[in-house]
Amino acid sequence: MKILVATEKPFAKVAIDGIRQIVEAAGCELILLEKYTDVSQLYDAVADADGLIVRSDKVTAEVVAHASKLKIVVRAGAGYDNLDLAACSAKGIVAMNTPGQNSNAVAELALGMMLFMARNHFQPGTGTELKGKTLGIQAYGNVGRLVAQLAKGFGMDVLAFDPFVPADKMVAEGVTPITDLKELYRRSNYLSLHIPANEQTKKSINYDLLSVMPKGACLVNTARKEVIHEEDLMRVMEERPDFKYVSDIAPDSLAALQEKFGTRVFATAKKMGAETAEANVNAGLAAANQVVGFLKEGVDRFRVN
Ligand code: 3PG
Repeated sequence: MKILVATEKPFAKVAIDGIRQIVEAAGCELILLEKYTDVSQLYDAVADADGLIVRSDKVTAEVVAHASKLKIVVRAGAGYDNLDLAACSAKGIVAMNTPGQNSNAVAELALGMMLFMARNHFQPGTGTELKGKTLGIQAYGNVGRLVAQLAKGFGMDVLAFDPFVPADKMVAEGVTPITDLKELYRRSNYLSLHIPANEQTKKSINYDLLSVMPKGACLVNTARKEVIHEEDLMRVMEERPDFKYVSDIAPDSLAALQEKFGTRVFATAKKMGAETAEANVNAGLAAANQVVGFLKEGVDRFRVN
């Protein structure tokens, strides 16, 4: 059986070595398609694959249509908004993610981006400290929890909003649960987003929320660009010369935002939250084990469709 790793943004070599070991130990063949520049390369490569491992690569209905033998696709990572689940399900293809495997890398980047903004992009001049500031966490999942712990290490007060997580779990971890989302924004000097992109969350970070943040507030996005209402973000930044936005996923309007607001806006050149050797190994090996486990034994833990 053939297992295709199709990554426009490749895994570290150490992760590929580990994936290869798992795949070959299971008697399967590893096919690598890295840094592809045209989706037709993915169409060709997936044609005779039994299993598929991707990162943020889009597995669209067209990709699925080209995959006549495909039984399983694993998104090596947390967010699976890049998978067309309906198309997979319609063809009997199991879809999975690897929750938690790259969370620490993303959490560390969130803190790094906060420091970067607090210290004026590491340029000369007087910055501010994280200590004593309030951090609001929207969605207390694998990444949100780690961000909370790191922030507490910096001496921040940490609040979190997550209707799916019991308040006593947050309290036990030294985090103050907030049940009203607007209240979270009202109280947070830094607001770190950890929500998935779906029909409920797209464009949900809007004027109503952003405009009530305290003076000097900074919105930190290591989640997805789609959750931001960009016109509203633009409006808040126009009205509030104190407001800052830092993101690991460049907004569609990045050029306009940077032209108008200069260093108050920063986006990484390419999404790098999960770009550590450790996260690549964790997520890549987990994905390989899940593909093999499903193809060989039908194990479907972490199935999302
Ligand atoms: C995720 O959802 O796991 C992260 O956004 C990582 O995405 P990447 O694999 O494209 O770096």
